Parts: sequence; C-alpha cells; structure tokens
Amino acid sequence: MRNSCKFADNYILANMSLKPKDNSPLQAADLLNNTSNRKLYIETYGCQMNVSDSEVVVSIMQENGVGYTSEIEKADIILVNTCSIRENAEQRIWGRLDVFRQIKKRKPDLLVGVIGCMAERLKEKLLEKEKLVDLVIGPDAYRELPSLVEEAGTGQRAINVLLSREETYADISPVRTDKNRVSAFVAIMRGCNNFCSYCVVPYTRGEERSRNPESILREIGELDEKGYREVTLLGQNVNSYRWGNREATEKLDFSGLLEKASVNYPGMRFRFSTSHPRDISDKLLNTIANHSNICRHLHLPAQSGSSRILKLMNRGYSREQYLDRVGAIRRIIPGCAISTDIIAGFCSESETDHKQTLSLMEEAGYDFAFMFKYSERPDTDAAKKLKDDVSEEVKTRRLNEIIELQGSLSAKSKEADLGKTFEVLVEGTSKKSQRELYGRTSQNKVVVFPAGDHKPGDYVNISVTRFTPATLIGVQEATGT
Ligand code: 5AD
Ligand code: SF4
Repeated sequence: MRNSCKFADNYILANMSLKPKDNSPLQAADLLNNTSNRKLYIETYGCQMNVSDSEVVVSIMQENGVGYTSEIEKADIILVNTCSIRENAEQRIWGRLDVFRQIKKRKPDLLVGVIGCMAERLKEKLLEKEKLVDLVIGPDAYRELPSLVEEAGTGQRAINVLLSREETYADISPVRTDKNRVSAFVAIMRGCNNFCSYCVVPYTRGEERSRNPESILREIGELDEKGYREVTLLGQNVNSYRWGNREATEKLDFSGLLEKASVNYPGMRFRFSTSHPRDISDKLLNTIANHSNICRHLHLPAQSGSSRILKLMNRGYSREQYLDRVGAIRRIIPGCAISTDIIAGFCSESETDHKQTLSLMEEAGYDFAFMFKYSERPDTDAAKKLKDDVSEEVKTRRLNEIIELQGSLSAKSKEADLGKTFEVLVEGTSKKSQRELYGRTSQNKVVVFPAGDHKPGDYVNISVTRFTPATLIGVQEATGT
C-alpha cells in the first residue's frame, strides 16, 4: 500500500490559481516595490497542515500583490513548503532545490525560498549551501514573507525562523487550492506539546496553541457560502483543542467545537485529523455518534502494538489502553472506520514487539493505515537517548509484513461493505472514465459509480457491488416508487 497525505513522503503538489482581489494590486504595488507583476510558484510536501499553510502563504502574497503561476518557468519566486518527518522526505527536497538551481542559472533574478519544517530545522544552514536558497522562513513567520522577499531581492540574507506562542493565522482567509471546490482543510490549532520521542514536529512547529473558535466558524461559514460540502478540521492533536482561559465563563474543548460546527452547518460534512489515542474521550465519541454530519472515521495512530515500545516512544498509553479506546469506538459509533499510523523498527524493537504490532493490527481490524520505517531525526529524544539498532534489512522486512497484513485487513473491510448502501459525497470525475464519478463515504472510503445526472458536491446513495484494492465500486441505489 502506498503512503498518502498526512506526513507521507510522496508529495502533494498544491496547484493554486489566484485572482487578485479587486482593490489589492495597487496597494500591493505600494507595499512591495516593483513586485506587482511578480509571480509565485509554490510546491507543497508532507502533511495536510502544510497544504493548509500553503493556502495561507498564497493569501498573504496575494494581499501584497504577488500573483500566482502553476508554471514553474514563469515564476519570479519559487517557494517549497517542506517536511522533515523522515530523512527521505528531506532528501527529496534537496533534489528539488538542485532542479531550481538549474532554472536560476538561466534566470538570475529568480528567488528560491524554503518554508515550513525543514526551514525551521536547518535554519541558516540552508542559506550556506552553494547559494541554493535565498529565503528561509519557519511555519510561524509567514506574515513576514513579503518583506523578506524584498530583502532577498536586494541580495540580503532573508531568514525568519522564530516560533511563536500565539500565531494561528486566524484572520487570514486561505486561498483554496482544490479544483473541485467540494472539500477544504480548516486549521484549528498549531504546534504539538506531546514530544513523542521519535518525532521532530514539536521542534519544527513549536508549542501547541488553539485558534479562536469564532474565526474557525467564520471560515467554515465562508466555505459553506461558496458551496463547499466537507471540512476537515486540522491539528497535530485536535483532541487537545482548548479555548478560554481559567477565568473565562465559556470554555470550549474539541467536542464542543465539533458540535458547534456540525449544528451550525448541517449541510456540511466534518472530518478531523489527527486524534491522539490518549485523549480520545467518550464525550467526543458521543458527540460524533449524535451528529450524522460528523464522519464515521477516526484516524488513531497506534505507532506500535508493544507496551514496552510505546513507553520508549513516550506515547502516553499502553497496548491495553489503546485497545480499550478501539472498543469504545466500536461500542459508541457502530460502523465507524478506524485508520492508523505504524512505525516499523523503532529503537530496540524485538521480534516479539513486532509480532505484538501485527496482532494489535488484527485486533483493531484497521480499515486503512499509513506505514513507515523508523527514521532517526536529529535532536529528538530517541536520537539523544536510544540506539537506532534495528538493521535496515530487518526494518524493511517488518514493514513489508505490516503492509501485507494491512492489505488483507483493508480487503476484509471492503468485503464487508458489499451489498450495503452508503451516502457518498461526489468529489469529481473518475480518472478512468468521463462517465463515472468518484466520491467518499462517511468512512472515508473512495467509491466509483456511473455518473448519471450527478455532479461534484452532490450526496448520492450508492450500493456497493464490488471492490478493487483501492476503491469500492457501486451503483446508485434504486429509488422505490
Ligand atoms: N520515523 C518514522 N515515522 C515517523 N513518524 C513520525 N516521526 C517518524 C519518524 N522519525 C510517523 C508517525 C506519525 C506520522 C505522521 O509519521 O507514524 O504518526
Ligand atoms: Fe509528533 Fe507525537 Fe506530536 Fe504527532 S503527537 S506530531 S507524532 S510529537
């Protein structure tokens, strides 16, 4: 199975088209000398949060009169929004920077910037390497982009990697990048305080902070007005969303926010990512169960099935506690899909630990999973205190066993859908045939079916007739007379 989206190593190329706001170009020309005709090209790697951040970046640049191009050759500024989660994610970005260098040889005024997690991790080191990069901007400094572009344009070192305790970009209206205008990401918090021992995110994205609920609901309302039908609420650990200080009369937690969103926008479907197994309360599960427009899918990263390894990972739960939460999901939300993230070959992982991961996967019966080999990240607790002592061969073999098992669990999960009817939100035309559409069930499974009169944004009841390794295939449920 291929990894996709969340922090995966394959990249998501965000194709963003920009229309300048009616009154913005002139002001922009004042703000950014000689840049009103400039064009930005942006490539986004890594997680959904990076996709969401790129939408913020395009919005900030747009407000300052910098247009957008999807053609790299037409760009005056190239930004690459980067991921540091595994070493091969960073390797891929170095490869891209080499490609940009070739373009720069032909076009000396071109500015190349690295933004996101790799900018935060490597800081000025990125500016030192053979003039590959002109700008380095961390995830909390995007408001400084226009002035840093100016600085870089005059040949100065342009860098801002300061992390913030407050920045949530709450007031910025992201420029949406999707073509079908059906589903969108809305960031509800930034950063992470969990410090799982293998993970670089708390260092690159800083402390956890929640976004003002009013601005979240306003953004959802704008999407609703534009005809969007699905919102994914994003955060590194959405279950620890909190709004309101100690004195506040009204406090809001994640289940409260989710409830408000689903009640205020009944025509919209809600998803969220990611949930930490330690924080997934019965209260949240009941909120999901009580609202049909909150999707029946939870992404609950287990990472390992061995309590000993989970402790070394600093995950804050044991195998038993994790399985207790899976049991609660099955009890409170029947028919809920569960997906996970698994890391193969973490420090000191034995064959017994690995077998426990396989057996946890079977017990949980995951519908799908993102699976990775452990990759040591500099300066994390695991890198400082533990030995990366599982050989590459063993990591590969264990990962292959995990992937194979998940293949059969995913097939089982699809087989169980045969003959059942699901409400599918149509996202677009199938790649294989103009006469077929594709969409997703509430459980986040992709379904392909004959188009009929339907169009993206419609909800259609589809009865599942067969399945391939990647998708369910179905027909529209016959409506009785
Ligand atoms: N090595 C391998 N996988 C990692 N992840 C996070 N850090 C690492 C690492 N150092 C995985 C975890 C996490 C997902 C986003 O990426 O499974 O849930
Ligand atoms: Fe990384 Fe753990 Fe935070 Fe997820 S919860 S971003 S794995 S530190």
